[in-house]
This record gives sequence, C-alpha cells and structure tokens, in this order.
Amino acid sequence: MAELPTRTLGDGTSVPVIGFGTYPLRGTDGVRAMVSALEVGYRFIDTAVNYRNEREVSEAMRVSGVDRGDIFLQTKVPGRDHTIARKSIETSLHVMDLDYLDSALIHWPNPSQGTFVRAWESLVEAKERGLVRSIGVSNFTPEQLDDVISATGVTPATNQIELHPAFPQVEQRAADAERGVVTQAWSPLGRTSSMEEPVVKEIAEAHGVTPAQVVLRWHLHLDSLPLPKSADPQRQVTNSEILGFDLSDEQIAAITALGRPDGRLFGADPLVHEEL
Ligand SMILES: NC(=O)c1ccc[n+]([C@@H]2O[C@H](COP(=O)([O-])OP(=O)(O)OC[C@H]3O[C@@H](n4cnc5c(N)ncnc54)[C@H](OP(=O)(O)O)[C@@H]3O)[C@@H](O)[C@H]2O)c1
Repeated sequence: MAELPTRTLGDGTSVPVIGFGTYPLRGTDGVRAMVSALEVGYRFIDTAVNYRNEREVSEAMRVSGVDRGDIFLQTKVPGRDHTIARKSIETSLHVMDLDYLDSALIHWPNPSQGTFVRAWESLVEAKERGLVRSIGVSNFTPEQLDDVISATGVTPATNQIELHPAFPQVEQRAADAERGVVTQAWSPLGRTSSMEEPVVKEIAEAHGVTPAQVVLRWHLHLDSLPLPKSADPQRQVTNSEILGFDLSDEQIAAITALGRPDGRLFGADPLVHEEL
C-alpha cells in the first residue's frame, strides 16, 4: 500500500488520514492482525484500556520492526479512571513499555459521574509533563466540548465518535469543526452494515472499487478520520487504497442521505450510554 498522507490536528500534531481500529483484536491472532496492519502500511493505531489489548499492541509494534517514531499510537482513558487520568496514562505506558503516547482520549463522558472535566484537566497535565503529545475526547456532545474548553482553555485535538452512513452525525461534525476539533470515526463501516446499502454498492460498481472503499472515501470527503478494523490482510490493504478516485458531490450527498434517526449501533447515545 502507498504511504498514507497525513493531516495536522489543531494542536499541530501530524496524523495519518486513516487509522487502524484494534477492537476486539486480542491474543496471538490479535497480534498477528496488528503486525500485518503495520506491515501493510498503517501508522495510526487506535486502542483503549477497555479493549484489554494494549499489551498486544505493543508486542505488534515491536515485532513489526516499524520505528516507534513513525507510529501514531492512541489509547483511551476509561470511565473508572476519570479522576486519576494521568495515572491511567502512566499505567498504559507501563503496560506497553513506552516513554510517551501520541494521543490519549477520554473514552466516554459518562455524564452521570460528573467527572469528565476533571479527567480533561488531568490529560492537560499529562501533556504538559510530556507523557502524551496530543489529547482529545471520544463520544462528546458539543456542550461537553464547551465544558472542557471553558474549564481549561485547552481545546481537544479530536473527538472520536460513532460515524457511518446510517449515522452521519451532521450536527456533531459541524460542532467539532467550528471548535477546531478533528472528528475521528469509530465503526466507520457501520460494522459491515454500510457495505450492504444498495446506494453504496451502486457507487462502488460505477468506480470499479469495493463498497468498503466507497464508504471510507466518503469519510475523507467529509473531513472525517476513519479507523476501520480488519483482521484480514487483504481487506487491510484495500481499506487504505481510497485515494485513487473521487466521489461526486451527488454521490457524497446520496451516502449521507442514508442517515436515520435510529442509525446508531447498539444504542450508543453518549447522553445515556456509559462505560466504566
Ligand atoms: N471510541 C469508541 O467508543 C469506540 C467504539 C467502538 C469502536 N471504536 C474503534 O473504532 C474501530 C473500528 O470500529 P468497529 O471495529 O466497531 O467497526 P468497523 O471498522 O466499521 O467494522 C469492522 C468490521 O468490518 C469488517 N470489515 C473491515 N473491512 C472490511 C471490508 N473491506 N469488507 C468487508 N468487511 C470488512 C471487519 O471484519 P474483518 O476483521 O473480518 O475484516 C469487522 O467485522 C474499533 O476497532 C475501535 O478501535 C471506538
């Protein structure tokens, strides 16, 4: 696969335009899939404490032989660690035997806990201490972004949200962009559901590419940074080969129009869904 271009986050950090999702890769098979992803050219790896695979991620990084400095490694602080977020980052570093992270996110705001602002203050401190180069959030609403920005004066570099054709997040993407926050997309393929859409299949046929490539190309046109997961080396390659064609404005609009109010996967509304 050709080297992926990068984009610059609001805090000046440079990051590949496509990342590799690692949930639920674990164990020997998980390491094999992650080594393959690094070998075929992914340089942005997305993990989380709650994926229970940070050890596998670090093993894959070492086995792959790719220079640490060439990898953008992102993990996430779980809800139970909001009040000890800096310590959580130190533990992730210890587990992965690393000196620094490229990015750390608050995994879920868990509003009923009332602790996400404290977690953000702790991430700001972790960045100041050089434990992490870039800090951000995941599953935050516009109001929650404003809460952390007004408490600290520091804007999250990124907001990782559920985003795929059935749930295109038009308002949240606009709110992120207004604040200078780059939107990362989790479940960018709708966990395969997006590829079954007749509109997507039709557009794929017109371009002579796969439905997954159409969906991932749509993300880039939206300025969204997709994090597809695949354990299959061939799909890992094709998922990243999406810069050789462009979607027309009509095709982009037709895919976005697949959005439905009930389009979220497993009802993961961050106002009610919480993860410890
Ligand atoms: N922040 C959060 O709260 C949050 C929540 C969920 C996920 N995430 C992150 O987002 C990443 C991606 O999300 P996801 O894994 O839920 O969903 P996804 O990337 O949309 O879909 C993954 C599924 O699609 C299949 N697939 C991948 N490429 C394909 C292709 N070209 N053709 C056909 N099938 C294909 C994979 O199977 P194979 O492996 O067999 O190819 C897997 O079953 C996760 O790994 C994780 O890093 C974050």
